[in-house]
Amino acid sequence: MRTAKPPLFLAPMAGVTDLAYRLLASECGADFTVTEFTAASGLTRRNTNSWLKVESDPRENPFIPQIFGGDIEEMVTTVKLLQDRADIIDLNFGCPAPKVCRNDAGAALLRDPDRVVKMVRACIEATDVPITVKMRLGTGSGPNTALEICQRIEAEGVERICVHGRTLKQRYSGDSDWSQIRDIVQSVEIPVIANGDVVNAKTAAECLEKTGAAGLMIGRGAIGRPTIFHEIKRDLGWSEDKPPWGIDDPAVARHWCWERYVELSSELYCDYHNKNLKRHAVSFTKGLPGASAMRVELHSIHDQQKLGQRVSEYLEELASLGAVA
Ligand SMILES: Cc1cc2nc3c(=O)[nH]c(=O)nc-3n(C[C@H](O)[C@H](O)[C@H](O)COP(=O)(O)O)c2cc1C
Repeated sequence: MRTAKPPLFLAPMAGVTDLAYRLLASECGADFTVTEFTAASGLTRRNTNSWLKVESDPRENPFIPQIFGGDIEEMVTTVKLLQDRADIIDLNFGCPAPKVCRNDAGAALLRDPDRVVKMVRACIEATDVPITVKMRLGTGSGPNTALEICQRIEAEGVERICVHGRTLKQRYSGDSDWSQIRDIVQSVEIPVIANGDVVNAKTAAECLEKTGAAGLMIGRGAIGRPTIFHEIKRDLGWSEDKPPWGIDDPAVARHWCWERYVELSSELYCDYHNKNLKRHAVSFTKGLPGASAMRVELHSIHDQQKLGQRVSEYLEELASLGAVA
């Protein structure tokens, strides 16, 4: 019987887990957050957009930038560039996007365990900052390599591994294979974080039970729903903390989260330009009464402040009608 309270991670998600959203998720109960994946090639070439992705704030603790790349030297240079600001640096061996895999980066690297080990070793040797890894099970062509890689990178000194229980080939189809995550958990001593298909307290408990993992990482279940971290901790009896939104009501919670996101966003992004705001607005309203009409309306609003206000009014109205379950 498990007694410890395993940490909950907000998964790195491109276009979703910007700094404001990461701070919001922490306020909602996430124990760890990670930046979206950022190209080592962009960071080493001092590309502004890449550096914006690894912005942090003193309230983000620990700060974990995630990087990816196919070139070992570039990865090492990036680790050195980030080491003064990062508490932990996470290496991505899980991205299935063709434009990433074409460059032998992301999940494509899983076809070559020797190269993964070499890259991880070089990054660890380059810094005192702890290195963690996020990966899939394998490429899906040939036997899965994650177990072998996890054992070998543990020996190199990786501090923690997160495994998404799908292959590159699967992308997001099928189910996350928690039994293969369990095999990895049982074959290494370092903490393994399970990822894939955790969407509420029930699936969180099932995933922990089936994998024996040291923690859980939640991605899609937290898009537009940062309250998931509070809900899991509350429903599994891990925390009796009062949520920042006061009463435990889903509509009040959603409205509070949106207003807080907008507040953080206006504080963090100069002249109020946040490229993810509209996407978050759509996610926060998805599935609610009148959401389709709302989505059309949102696309016609170009002023970010007005967009923030419109969603806020909509969520407030639904809350007053008791229309959010
Ligand atoms: C929109 C989106 C963007 C993502 N971006 C990243 C990323 O930048 N880095 C990464 O390691 N994984 C990324 N992922 C994968 C997630 O971190 C996670 O592994 C995957 O969604 C499975 O977890 P889930 O079932 O909880 O969503 C992304 C997923 C989504 C849906």
